[in-house]
Amino acid sequence: MKIFVKKGVLADTKSQAIILTLFEDSKKLTGMALEIDQKSNGLISEMISNGDFEAKPSQISVIYTRGSLPAKRIALVGLGKHSEFSLEKLRAAFASVMRHLRNLNIKEAATSINLNLIPRKKDQVIQAVAEGSLLGLYQYTPFKTVGREDLKEMDQLNIIANEKDFSVIESAIKKARIITQAVYFARDLVSAPSNEMTPSIMAQKAREIARRKNVSCQVLDKDKMKEMGMNALLAVASGSNEEPKFIILEYAGGKKSEAPVVLVGKGLTFDSGGISIKPADKMDEMKTDMSGGAAVMGVIMAAADLQLPLNITVLIPATENMPSGTAYKPGDIIKSYSGKTIEVLNTDAEGRLILADALAYASEFKPAAVIDVATLTGACIVALGDDVIGMLGTDDKLKKEIDKAAQTTGELVWELPLWESYHELIKSDIADYKNSGSRVAGTITAAAFLSKFVGDSPWVHLDIAGPSWTNKDKTYIPKGASGVAVRLLVEFLRNRVQK
Ligand code: BES
Ligand code: MN
Ligand code: ZN
Repeated sequence: MKIFVKKGVLADTKSQAIILTLFEDSKKLTGMALEIDQKSNGLISEMISNGDFEAKPSQISVIYTRGSLPAKRIALVGLGKHSEFSLEKLRAAFASVMRHLRNLNIKEAATSINLNLIPRKKDQVIQAVAEGSLLGLYQYTPFKTVGREDLKEMDQLNIIANEKDFSVIESAIKKARIITQAVYFARDLVSAPSNEMTPSIMAQKAREIARRKNVSCQVLDKDKMKEMGMNALLAVASGSNEEPKFIILEYAGGKKSEAPVVLVGKGLTFDSGGISIKPADKMDEMKTDMSGGAAVMGVIMAAADLQLPLNITVLIPATENMPSGTAYKPGDIIKSYSGKTIEVLNTDAEGRLILADALAYASEFKPAAVIDVATLTGACIVALGDDVIGMLGTDDKLKKEIDKAAQTTGELVWELPLWESYHELIKSDIADYKNSGSRVAGTITAAAFLSKFVGDSPWVHLDIAGPSWTNKDKTYIPKGASGVAVRLLVEFLRNRVQK
Protein backbone atom coordinates (compact mmCIF):
# COMPACT_ATOMS: atom_id res chain seq x y z
CA MET A 1 0.00 0.00 0.00
CA LYS A 2 1.18 3.48 -0.85
CA ILE A 3 0.89 6.33 1.64
CA PHE A 4 0.62 9.89 0.34
CA VAL A 5 0.46 13.24 2.07
CA LYS A 6 -2.06 15.61 0.53
CA LYS A 7 -3.04 19.17 1.20
CA GLY A 8 -6.61 19.73 2.31
CA VAL A 9 -9.28 19.20 4.94
CA LEU A 10 -10.56 15.71 5.71
CA ALA A 11 -14.23 16.79 5.79
CA ASP A 12 -13.89 18.01 2.20
CA THR A 13 -11.86 15.06 0.92
CA LYS A 14 -13.26 12.74 -1.71
CA SER A 15 -12.48 9.19 -0.66
CA GLN A 16 -13.92 5.67 -0.37
CA ALA A 17 -13.62 6.10 3.40
CA ILE A 18 -12.35 8.84 5.65
CA ILE A 19 -10.90 7.46 8.85
CA LEU A 20 -11.65 9.32 12.05
CA THR A 21 -10.15 8.38 15.42
CA LEU A 22 -12.10 9.11 18.59
CA PHE A 23 -11.45 8.81 22.33
CA GLU A 24 -13.84 6.94 24.57
CA ASP A 25 -14.06 9.65 27.21
CA SER A 26 -14.20 12.85 25.20
CA LYS A 27 -17.45 14.48 26.26
CA LYS A 28 -18.19 16.24 23.00
CA LEU A 29 -16.88 16.24 19.47
CA THR A 30 -14.26 18.87 18.67
CA GLY A 31 -12.06 19.94 15.79
CA MET A 32 -12.18 17.77 12.74
CA ALA A 33 -14.69 15.32 14.18
CA LEU A 34 -17.07 18.18 14.92
CA GLU A 35 -16.63 19.57 11.42
CA ILE A 36 -17.35 16.20 9.83
CA ASP A 37 -20.31 15.67 12.12
CA GLN A 38 -21.83 19.05 11.28
CA LYS A 39 -21.31 18.65 7.54
CA SER A 40 -22.87 15.17 7.63
CA ASN A 41 -25.92 16.36 9.59
CA GLY A 42 -24.90 14.64 12.82
CA LEU A 43 -24.05 11.15 11.53
CA ILE A 44 -21.31 10.71 14.13
CA SER A 45 -23.08 12.23 17.13
CA GLU A 46 -26.11 10.06 16.39
CA MET A 47 -23.96 6.90 16.46
CA ILE A 48 -22.44 7.99 19.73
CA SER A 49 -25.62 9.13 21.50
CA ASN A 50 -27.39 5.88 20.59
CA GLY A 51 -24.48 3.92 22.05
CA ASP A 52 -23.60 2.29 18.72
CA PHE A 53 -20.07 3.58 18.91
CA GLU A 54 -18.21 3.90 22.21
CA ALA A 55 -14.67 4.39 20.89
CA LYS A 56 -13.34 1.38 22.79
CA PRO A 57 -9.77 0.53 21.73
CA SER A 58 -9.79 -0.55 18.04
CA GLN A 59 -13.62 -0.56 17.85
CA ILE A 60 -14.70 0.13 14.26
CA SER A 61 -17.90 1.53 12.76
CA VAL A 62 -18.36 2.30 9.10
CA ILE A 63 -21.14 4.74 8.15
CA TYR A 64 -22.39 5.77 4.70
CA THR A 65 -22.40 9.53 4.19
CA ARG A 66 -25.13 9.31 1.52
CA GLY A 67 -23.90 12.38 -0.29
CA SER A 68 -23.59 14.63 2.74
CA LEU A 69 -19.81 14.65 2.33
CA PRO A 70 -17.53 14.17 -0.69
CA ALA A 71 -16.36 10.92 0.99
CA LYS A 72 -18.50 7.82 0.49
CA ARG A 73 -18.01 6.47 4.03
CA ILE A 74 -16.82 7.52 7.45
CA ALA A 75 -14.80 4.87 9.26
CA LEU A 76 -14.82 5.55 12.99
CA VAL A 77 -12.08 3.94 15.01
CA GLY A 78 -11.82 3.95 18.78
CA LEU A 79 -8.68 4.88 20.69
CA GLY A 80 -9.99 4.02 24.15
CA LYS A 81 -9.53 6.31 27.14
CA HIS A 82 -7.47 9.43 26.66
CA SER A 83 -5.51 8.76 29.85
CA GLU A 84 -4.52 5.29 28.59
CA PHE A 85 -3.44 6.44 25.15
CA SER A 86 -0.14 5.18 23.72
CA LEU A 87 1.59 4.71 20.40
CA GLU A 88 0.68 1.05 20.69
CA LYS A 89 -3.05 1.92 20.84
CA LEU A 90 -2.62 4.04 17.73
CA ARG A 91 -0.82 1.27 15.81
CA ALA A 92 -3.55 -1.17 16.83
CA ALA A 93 -6.36 1.21 15.84
CA PHE A 94 -4.97 1.78 12.36
CA ALA A 95 -4.19 -1.89 11.86
CA SER A 96 -7.81 -2.76 12.71
CA VAL A 97 -9.45 -0.10 10.61
CA MET A 98 -7.27 -0.77 7.57
CA ARG A 99 -7.95 -4.50 7.78
CA HIS A 100 -11.66 -3.82 8.23
CA LEU A 101 -11.75 -1.63 5.14
CA ARG A 102 -9.74 -4.15 3.13
CA ASN A 103 -12.27 -6.84 4.06
CA LEU A 104 -14.97 -4.57 2.59
CA ASN A 105 -12.86 -4.63 -0.58
CA ILE A 106 -12.09 -0.93 -0.28
CA LYS A 107 -8.82 0.01 -1.93
CA GLU A 108 -8.32 3.58 -0.85
CA ALA A 109 -8.85 5.58 2.33
CA ALA A 110 -7.97 8.99 3.73
CA THR A 111 -7.27 10.25 7.20
CA SER A 112 -5.92 13.20 9.14
CA ILE A 113 -3.83 12.93 12.25
CA ASN A 114 -3.75 15.21 15.23
CA LEU A 115 0.01 15.71 15.49
CA ASN A 116 -0.31 16.85 19.08
CA LEU A 117 -1.74 13.55 20.31
CA ILE A 118 1.52 13.10 22.19
CA PRO A 119 3.30 16.40 22.82
CA ARG A 120 6.84 16.56 21.37
CA LYS A 121 6.39 13.25 19.55
CA LYS A 122 4.83 14.34 16.27
CA ASP A 123 7.11 12.13 14.21
CA GLN A 124 6.43 9.07 16.38
CA VAL A 125 2.67 9.60 16.12
CA ILE A 126 2.83 9.62 12.32
CA GLN A 127 5.24 6.71 12.29
CA ALA A 128 2.84 4.70 14.47
CA VAL A 129 -0.08 5.38 12.11
CA ALA A 130 1.94 4.30 9.07
CA GLU A 131 3.49 1.29 10.80
CA GLY A 132 0.21 0.11 12.29
CA SER A 133 -1.52 0.35 8.92
CA LEU A 134 1.22 -1.37 6.94
CA LEU A 135 2.05 -4.06 9.48
CA GLY A 136 -1.61 -4.91 10.00
CA LEU A 137 -2.16 -5.33 6.26
CA TYR A 138 0.65 -7.87 5.82
CA GLN A 139 -0.37 -11.08 4.07
CA TYR A 140 1.79 -14.01 2.98
CA THR A 141 0.40 -15.31 -0.31
CA PRO A 142 3.16 -16.63 -2.62
CA PHE A 143 1.94 -20.22 -2.35
CA LYS A 144 -1.76 -19.49 -2.93
CA THR A 145 -2.59 -20.38 -6.52
CA VAL A 146 -6.33 -21.06 -6.33
CA GLY A 147 -8.58 -18.00 -6.15
CA ARG A 148 -5.74 -15.50 -6.34
CA GLU A 149 -8.08 -13.02 -7.99
CA ASP A 150 -10.12 -12.94 -4.78
CA LEU A 151 -7.18 -11.74 -2.67
CA LYS A 152 -8.04 -8.30 -1.36
CA GLU A 153 -5.54 -5.52 -1.23
CA MET A 154 -5.52 -1.95 0.02
CA ASP A 155 -3.72 0.27 -2.48
CA GLN A 156 -3.58 3.71 -0.99
CA LEU A 157 -3.83 5.72 2.23
CA ASN A 158 -3.90 9.49 1.88
CA ILE A 159 -2.92 11.58 4.85
CA ILE A 160 -4.67 14.92 4.56
CA ALA A 161 -2.73 17.70 6.23
CA ASN A 162 -1.80 21.31 6.49
CA GLU A 163 1.12 22.22 4.22
CA LYS A 164 3.21 23.41 7.17
CA ASP A 165 3.23 19.84 8.56
CA PHE A 166 4.27 18.19 5.31
CA SER A 167 7.97 17.83 6.05
CA VAL A 168 7.55 16.17 9.47
CA ILE A 169 4.83 13.88 8.10
CA GLU A 170 6.77 12.93 4.99
CA SER A 171 9.96 12.12 6.84
CA ALA A 172 8.09 10.03 9.43
CA ILE A 173 6.32 8.10 6.66
CA LYS A 174 9.61 7.48 4.91
CA LYS A 175 11.09 6.05 8.12
CA ALA A 176 8.00 3.93 8.73
CA ARG A 177 8.17 2.67 5.14
CA ILE A 178 11.81 1.58 5.51
CA ILE A 179 11.20 -0.07 8.86
CA THR A 180 8.03 -1.91 7.81
CA GLN A 181 9.77 -3.10 4.66
CA ALA A 182 12.39 -4.69 6.90
CA VAL A 183 9.68 -6.27 9.06
CA TYR A 184 7.94 -7.58 5.92
CA PHE A 185 11.27 -9.00 4.77
CA ALA A 186 11.73 -10.85 8.08
CA ARG A 187 8.10 -12.08 8.06
CA ASP A 188 8.48 -13.38 4.50
CA LEU A 189 11.61 -15.33 5.39
CA VAL A 190 10.05 -16.82 8.51
CA SER A 191 6.76 -17.66 6.77
CA ALA A 192 8.54 -19.51 3.97
CA PRO A 193 8.57 -23.27 4.55
CA SER A 194 11.93 -24.91 5.17
CA ASN A 195 12.04 -26.48 1.69
CA GLU A 196 11.92 -22.93 0.30
CA MET A 197 14.11 -21.30 2.95
CA THR A 198 17.26 -23.39 3.18
CA PRO A 199 20.58 -22.03 4.49
CA SER A 200 21.64 -21.48 0.85
CA ILE A 201 18.50 -19.48 0.10
CA MET A 202 19.02 -17.42 3.25
CA ALA A 203 22.54 -16.68 2.05
CA GLN A 204 21.12 -15.62 -1.29
CA LYS A 205 18.72 -13.24 0.47
CA ALA A 206 21.69 -11.78 2.35
CA ARG A 207 23.53 -11.17 -0.92
CA GLU A 208 20.49 -9.29 -2.18
CA ILE A 209 20.57 -7.05 0.90
CA ALA A 210 24.21 -6.32 0.15
CA ARG A 211 23.31 -4.61 -3.13
CA ARG A 212 22.78 -1.52 -0.98
CA LYS A 213 25.35 1.21 -0.61
CA ASN A 214 27.96 0.51 2.12
CA VAL A 215 26.73 -3.05 2.65
CA SER A 216 28.84 -6.11 1.92
CA CYS A 217 28.15 -9.81 2.25
CA GLN A 218 30.37 -12.80 2.74
CA VAL A 219 29.17 -16.39 3.00
CA LEU A 220 31.39 -19.05 4.54
CA ASP A 221 30.76 -22.54 3.19
CA LYS A 222 31.23 -25.89 4.87
CA ASP A 223 34.88 -26.31 3.83
CA LYS A 224 35.76 -22.88 5.17
CA MET A 225 33.96 -23.66 8.44
CA LYS A 226 35.95 -26.90 8.73
CA GLU A 227 39.19 -25.04 8.15
CA MET A 228 38.23 -22.46 10.79
CA GLY A 229 37.09 -25.05 13.33
CA MET A 230 33.45 -24.07 13.63
CA ASN A 231 32.76 -27.57 14.88
CA ALA A 232 29.70 -26.80 16.96
CA LEU A 233 27.89 -25.42 13.94
CA LEU A 234 29.16 -28.30 11.79
CA ALA A 235 27.98 -30.86 14.35
CA VAL A 236 24.43 -29.51 14.20
CA ALA A 237 24.60 -29.49 10.39
CA SER A 238 25.98 -33.03 10.16
CA GLY A 239 22.58 -34.75 10.02
CA SER A 240 21.29 -32.69 7.11
CA ASN A 241 21.78 -32.88 3.37
CA GLU A 242 21.48 -29.10 3.20
CA GLU A 243 24.81 -27.31 3.25
CA PRO A 244 25.23 -25.03 6.27
CA LYS A 245 26.15 -21.42 5.60
CA PHE A 246 27.75 -18.84 7.86
CA ILE A 247 26.41 -15.50 6.68
CA ILE A 248 28.27 -12.25 7.35
CA LEU A 249 26.73 -8.89 6.44
CA GLU A 250 28.55 -5.66 7.14
CA TYR A 251 27.22 -2.14 6.95
CA ALA A 252 29.83 0.62 7.03
CA GLY A 253 27.82 3.72 7.85
CA GLY A 254 30.13 5.02 10.58
CA LYS A 255 33.76 6.10 10.78
CA LYS A 256 36.30 3.46 9.83
CA SER A 257 37.79 3.50 13.32
CA GLU A 258 34.45 3.03 15.04
CA ALA A 259 33.74 -0.35 16.66
CA PRO A 260 30.73 -2.13 15.14
CA VAL A 261 27.56 -3.28 16.84
CA VAL A 262 27.46 -7.01 16.11
CA LEU A 263 24.04 -8.63 15.75
CA VAL A 264 23.94 -12.42 15.79
CA GLY A 265 20.82 -14.28 14.65
CA LYS A 266 19.95 -17.96 15.02
CA GLY A 267 19.42 -19.32 11.50
CA LEU A 268 18.00 -22.79 12.09
CA THR A 269 15.98 -23.24 8.89
CA PHE A 270 14.37 -26.38 10.29
CA ASP A 271 14.67 -27.81 13.79
CA SER A 272 13.46 -31.39 13.91
CA GLY A 273 15.34 -31.84 17.16
CA GLY A 274 17.82 -34.19 15.47
CA ILE A 275 18.39 -37.57 17.14
CA SER A 276 16.65 -36.15 20.25
CA ILE A 277 13.72 -35.77 17.88
CA LYS A 278 10.73 -33.55 18.65
CA PRO A 279 7.12 -34.84 18.77
CA ALA A 280 5.27 -34.66 15.42
CA ASP A 281 2.66 -32.27 16.79
CA LYS A 282 3.55 -28.72 15.73
CA MET A 283 6.94 -29.76 14.40
CA ASP A 284 5.99 -27.77 11.29
CA GLU A 285 6.35 -24.60 13.36
CA MET A 286 10.07 -25.27 13.58
CA LYS A 287 10.45 -23.73 10.12
CA THR A 288 10.42 -20.50 12.17
CA ASP A 289 13.63 -21.37 14.00
CA MET A 290 15.53 -18.92 11.81
CA SER A 291 13.46 -15.96 13.05
CA GLY A 292 16.44 -14.42 14.83
CA GLY A 293 18.52 -14.57 11.66
CA ALA A 294 15.69 -13.10 9.60
CA ALA A 295 15.26 -10.30 12.17
CA VAL A 296 18.91 -9.23 12.16
CA MET A 297 18.93 -9.29 8.35
CA GLY A 298 15.92 -6.99 8.43
CA VAL A 299 17.70 -4.72 10.89
CA ILE A 300 20.83 -4.22 8.80
CA MET A 301 18.66 -3.65 5.73
CA ALA A 302 16.73 -0.89 7.52
CA ALA A 303 19.91 0.60 9.02
CA ALA A 304 21.42 0.88 5.54
CA ASP A 305 18.24 2.35 4.06
CA LEU A 306 18.04 4.86 6.91
CA GLN A 307 21.74 5.59 6.32
CA LEU A 308 22.47 5.41 10.04
CA PRO A 309 26.00 6.65 10.78
CA LEU A 310 27.04 3.43 12.50
CA ASN A 311 29.02 0.32 11.71
CA ILE A 312 26.95 -2.83 12.00
CA THR A 313 27.92 -6.45 11.51
CA VAL A 314 25.38 -9.24 11.22
CA LEU A 315 26.36 -12.87 11.75
CA ILE A 316 23.99 -15.73 10.98
CA PRO A 317 24.94 -19.36 11.46
CA ALA A 318 22.44 -21.09 9.17
CA THR A 319 21.72 -24.82 9.11
CA GLU A 320 19.07 -27.50 9.52
CA ASN A 321 18.94 -29.81 12.54
CA MET A 322 18.06 -33.29 11.24
CA PRO A 323 18.34 -36.92 12.38
CA SER A 324 20.26 -39.27 10.10
CA GLY A 325 23.10 -41.77 10.01
CA THR A 326 25.56 -38.90 9.89
CA ALA A 327 23.85 -36.80 12.56
CA TYR A 328 25.57 -35.81 15.80
CA LYS A 329 24.43 -37.78 18.81
CA PRO A 330 23.72 -37.36 22.50
CA GLY A 331 26.96 -37.88 24.38
CA ASP A 332 29.16 -36.52 21.60
CA ILE A 333 31.85 -34.06 22.65
CA ILE A 334 32.65 -31.18 20.31
CA LYS A 335 35.57 -28.78 20.30
CA SER A 336 33.92 -25.46 19.49
CA TYR A 337 35.41 -22.57 17.52
CA SER A 338 36.44 -20.91 20.81
CA GLY A 339 38.46 -24.00 21.73
CA LYS A 340 36.12 -24.82 24.61
CA THR A 341 34.63 -28.33 24.62
CA ILE A 342 30.93 -29.11 24.76
CA GLU A 343 29.23 -32.33 25.77
CA VAL A 344 26.01 -32.76 23.80
CA LEU A 345 23.33 -34.12 26.09
CA ASN A 346 20.42 -33.21 23.84
CA THR A 347 20.69 -32.65 20.09
CA ASP A 348 17.55 -30.49 20.31
CA ALA A 349 19.52 -27.88 22.26
CA GLU A 350 21.20 -27.01 18.96
CA GLY A 351 20.62 -23.27 18.88
CA ARG A 352 23.14 -22.58 21.62
CA LEU A 353 25.71 -24.69 19.76
CA ILE A 354 25.58 -22.73 16.52
CA LEU A 355 25.44 -19.47 18.50
CA ALA A 356 28.47 -20.53 20.53
CA ASP A 357 30.57 -20.52 17.37
CA ALA A 358 29.00 -17.32 16.05
CA LEU A 359 29.46 -15.45 19.35
CA ALA A 360 33.08 -16.56 19.64
CA TYR A 361 33.66 -15.38 16.09
CA ALA A 362 31.87 -12.09 16.87
CA SER A 363 34.51 -11.11 19.41
CA GLU A 364 37.08 -10.91 16.59
CA PHE A 365 35.30 -7.78 15.35
CA LYS A 366 36.11 -6.06 18.69
CA PRO A 367 32.47 -5.01 18.95
CA ALA A 368 31.05 -2.01 20.78
CA ALA A 369 28.18 -4.34 21.68
CA VAL A 370 27.00 -7.83 20.82
CA ILE A 371 23.30 -8.69 20.69
CA ASP A 372 22.05 -12.12 19.74
CA VAL A 373 18.47 -12.87 18.76
CA ALA A 374 17.20 -16.44 18.85
CA THR A 375 14.17 -18.68 19.12
CA LEU A 376 16.21 -20.48 21.73
CA THR A 377 14.01 -22.11 24.35
CA GLY A 378 10.48 -23.42 24.80
CA ALA A 379 11.12 -22.64 28.47
CA CYS A 380 10.94 -18.94 27.65
CA ILE A 381 7.33 -19.44 26.54
CA VAL A 382 6.60 -21.32 29.76
CA ALA A 383 8.13 -18.52 31.83
CA LEU A 384 6.92 -15.40 30.03
CA GLY A 385 4.17 -16.47 27.62
CA ASP A 386 3.73 -16.12 23.88
CA ASP A 387 4.16 -12.36 23.59
CA VAL A 388 7.33 -11.60 25.49
CA ILE A 389 11.01 -11.45 24.57
CA GLY A 390 13.26 -12.82 27.30
CA MET A 391 16.34 -10.67 27.85
CA LEU A 392 19.52 -11.77 29.56
CA GLY A 393 23.00 -10.35 29.45
CA THR A 394 26.12 -9.08 31.09
CA ASP A 395 25.79 -5.33 30.62
CA ASP A 396 23.24 -3.22 32.47
CA LYS A 397 23.69 -0.19 30.25
CA LEU A 398 23.02 -2.21 27.10
CA LYS A 399 19.97 -3.83 28.71
CA LYS A 400 18.65 -0.36 29.59
CA GLU A 401 19.09 0.73 25.97
CA ILE A 402 17.06 -2.26 24.79
CA ASP A 403 14.42 -1.56 27.40
CA LYS A 404 14.11 2.04 26.28
CA ALA A 405 13.73 1.04 22.63
CA ALA A 406 11.05 -1.49 23.62
CA GLN A 407 9.05 1.23 25.38
CA THR A 408 8.81 3.03 22.05
CA THR A 409 8.19 0.11 19.69
CA GLY A 410 5.73 -1.72 21.93
CA GLU A 411 7.63 -5.00 21.78
CA LEU A 412 7.51 -6.59 25.23
CA VAL A 413 10.90 -7.32 26.75
CA TRP A 414 11.41 -8.80 30.21
CA GLU A 415 14.68 -9.50 31.90
CA LEU A 416 15.62 -12.80 33.51
CA PRO A 417 18.60 -13.11 35.85
CA LEU A 418 21.93 -14.66 34.98
CA TRP A 419 23.31 -15.17 38.47
CA GLU A 420 26.48 -17.11 39.19
CA SER A 421 24.60 -20.07 40.70
CA TYR A 422 22.97 -20.89 37.36
CA HIS A 423 26.35 -21.46 35.78
CA GLU A 424 26.78 -24.60 37.90
CA LEU A 425 23.93 -26.19 35.95
CA ILE A 426 25.81 -26.36 32.65
CA LYS A 427 29.12 -27.73 33.91
CA SER A 428 29.97 -31.06 32.31
CA ASP A 429 31.64 -33.96 34.09
CA ILE A 430 33.98 -34.73 31.22
CA ALA A 431 33.96 -31.61 28.98
CA ASP A 432 33.92 -27.89 29.73
CA TYR A 433 30.17 -27.45 29.40
CA LYS A 434 27.08 -29.49 28.58
CA ASN A 435 24.53 -28.14 26.13
CA SER A 436 21.53 -28.80 28.34
CA GLY A 437 20.90 -28.37 32.04
CA SER A 438 18.21 -30.15 34.02
CA ARG A 439 14.56 -29.19 33.58
CA VAL A 440 14.82 -26.05 35.70
CA ALA A 441 15.37 -22.49 34.41
CA GLY A 442 15.79 -23.57 30.78
CA THR A 443 16.01 -20.07 29.34
CA ILE A 444 18.60 -19.02 31.89
CA THR A 445 20.82 -22.07 31.53
CA ALA A 446 20.74 -21.56 27.76
CA ALA A 447 21.89 -17.97 28.20
CA ALA A 448 24.49 -19.03 30.78
CA PHE A 449 25.84 -21.42 28.16
CA LEU A 450 26.01 -18.67 25.54
CA SER A 451 27.82 -16.36 27.96
CA LYS A 452 30.79 -18.75 27.98
CA PHE A 453 31.47 -17.94 24.34
CA VAL A 454 31.04 -14.17 24.44
CA GLY A 455 34.25 -12.14 24.71
CA ASP A 456 34.67 -8.98 26.77
CA SER A 457 32.17 -6.83 24.86
CA PRO A 458 28.85 -5.79 26.39
CA TRP A 459 26.41 -8.54 25.47
CA VAL A 460 22.67 -9.06 25.50
CA HIS A 461 20.73 -12.16 24.48
CA LEU A 462 17.12 -11.90 23.30
CA ASP A 463 15.06 -15.11 23.39
CA ILE A 464 12.19 -14.64 20.90
CA ALA A 465 10.80 -18.21 20.98
CA GLY A 466 7.40 -16.88 22.12
CA PRO A 467 6.66 -13.80 20.02
CA SER A 468 8.36 -14.82 16.75
CA TRP A 469 5.18 -16.57 15.60
CA THR A 470 1.52 -16.15 16.50
CA ASN A 471 -1.31 -18.63 16.04
CA LYS A 472 -3.94 -15.89 16.27
CA ASP A 473 -4.28 -12.42 14.81
CA LYS A 474 -2.81 -9.82 17.15
CA THR A 475 -3.52 -6.12 16.60
CA TYR A 476 -0.91 -5.31 13.96
CA ILE A 477 0.57 -8.78 13.74
CA PRO A 478 -1.61 -10.97 11.55
CA LYS A 479 -1.53 -14.70 12.36
CA GLY A 480 1.87 -16.08 11.40
CA ALA A 481 5.36 -14.59 11.49
CA SER A 482 5.71 -11.38 13.50
CA GLY A 483 9.10 -10.00 12.50
CA VAL A 484 9.64 -9.31 16.20
CA ALA A 485 12.92 -7.62 17.21
CA VAL A 486 13.33 -5.82 13.87
CA ARG A 487 11.67 -2.60 15.03
CA LEU A 488 13.20 -3.01 18.48
CA LEU A 489 16.77 -3.18 17.22
CA VAL A 490 16.32 -0.48 14.59
CA GLU A 491 15.02 1.82 17.35
CA PHE A 492 17.95 0.79 19.56
CA LEU A 493 20.39 1.70 16.78
CA ARG A 494 18.65 5.00 16.02
CA ASN A 495 18.91 5.92 19.71
CA ARG A 496 22.63 5.13 19.61
CA VAL A 497 23.09 7.65 16.82
CA GLN A 498 21.33 10.42 18.69
CA LYS A 499 23.74 10.07 21.61
N1 BES B 1 14.02 -24.03 18.61
C1 BES B 1 13.79 -24.63 19.87
C2 BES B 1 13.08 -23.69 20.86
C3 BES B 1 11.66 -23.32 20.53
C4 BES B 1 10.62 -24.04 21.04
C5 BES B 1 11.40 -22.21 19.74
C6 BES B 1 9.31 -23.67 20.74
C7 BES B 1 10.09 -21.85 19.45
C8 BES B 1 9.04 -22.58 19.95
C9 BES B 1 15.11 -25.02 20.49
O1 BES B 1 16.09 -25.43 19.60
C10 BES B 1 14.84 -26.18 21.38
O2 BES B 1 14.46 -27.21 20.89
N2 BES B 1 15.07 -26.02 22.68
C11 BES B 1 14.87 -27.04 23.62
C12 BES B 1 16.03 -27.05 24.58
C13 BES B 1 16.09 -28.26 25.48
C14 BES B 1 16.31 -29.51 24.66
C15 BES B 1 17.20 -28.07 26.47
C16 BES B 1 13.56 -26.76 24.33
O3 BES B 1 13.24 -25.59 24.56
O4 BES B 1 12.85 -27.71 24.64
MN1 MN C 1 15.95 -27.49 19.13
ZN1 ZN D 1 15.93 -24.68 17.73
